[in-house]
Amino acid sequence: MKSLDDGVCDLIYIDPPFVTQRKRTHRASGAKYDDRWSGGLKQFLAFLHPRLSECHRLLSERGTLYVHLDWRAAHYVRVLLDTIFGERNFLNEVIWHYRTGGLSTKWFARKHDTILVYAKKAGSHSFQVQREGTFRTDGLNYDEDGRPYKNTKKGRLYFNAAGPALSDVWDMPFLSTVSLERVDWPTQKPVALLERIIRSSSREGDLIADFFCGSGTTLVAAMGLGRRAIGCDIESRAVAITRERLKKICATRPVFSSAPRTNRPHKLPSESSARR
Ligand SMILES: C[S@@+](CC[C@H](N)C(=O)[O-])C[C@H]1O[C@@H](n2cnc3c(N)ncnc32)[C@H](O)[C@@H]1O
Repeated sequence: MKSLDDGVCDLIYIDPPFVTQRKRTHRASGAKYDDRWSGGLKQFLAFLHPRLSECHRLLSERGTLYVHLDWRAAHYVRVLLDTIFGERNFLNEVIWHYRTGGLSTKWFARKHDTILVYAKKAGSHSFQVQREGTFRTDGLNYDEDGRPYKNTKKGRLYFNAAGPALSDVWDMPFLSTVSLERVDWPTQKPVALLERIIRSSSREGDLIADFFCGSGTTLVAAMGLGRRAIGCDIESRAVAITRERLKKICATRPVFSSAPRTNRPHKLPSESSARR
């Protein structure tokens, strides 16, 4: 992050550790992901703070940051982000709801992640409304062409043919254990989730960054949508998986050749340089 110039990223998505205090091992590959913090949340927040400040520095004037967390740290990180970005630049607290995983008999099943969204400068930020699903049309009138409408004082109100605008609650399945999209990384997120974020907050050719890229989902989604992408991860296995996934995308799609502006000559990350 330090090697990049101010304002080079148009969209940053990070999915850092969640402070689960667990070490996970991928069943098939044995890939390990250690999310244990001896100093608990305090240590985690001290780790994340300077990285969030770097994200702020790296975003362009129309840039947006998405920080993916869960119930363990989201409320503390929101306070950090308010101090770094300013409360006025808060855009959303997106709830990603899914159904996979176990149930509890002691409390309501915890079935959502929280994605905090901040603009570098609210009002100047890129945003495209996304539409999905269908409107409720029961009890409505239908016109001569069979299109549903509501009667209002101003006349007929028709619904947008593309469907309702997305709200901040996203119902989207988690990757199943047998999904064809699965690679050997324990905390892999669905490409569909990242595509939604990238479509909402960037344009073709924009530079998308993920500094905790894991299996490279953000980079895969970004390049598939005609954006440029950069990422890093502290685990060499994650970098290797990301490289493999990107090679497949590069083989099937045109790829932007321009590298981001950096303070130093730009080198493709080797597995060793990707480790701190
Ligand atoms: C929740 S996972 C990200 C998963 C990713 N979104 C995906 O779809 O595969 C968090 C990642 O952060 C990485 N990580 C932990 N500490 C890091 C650090 N200091 N710098 C860079 N990456 C780090 C871990 O190796 C892990 O891959």
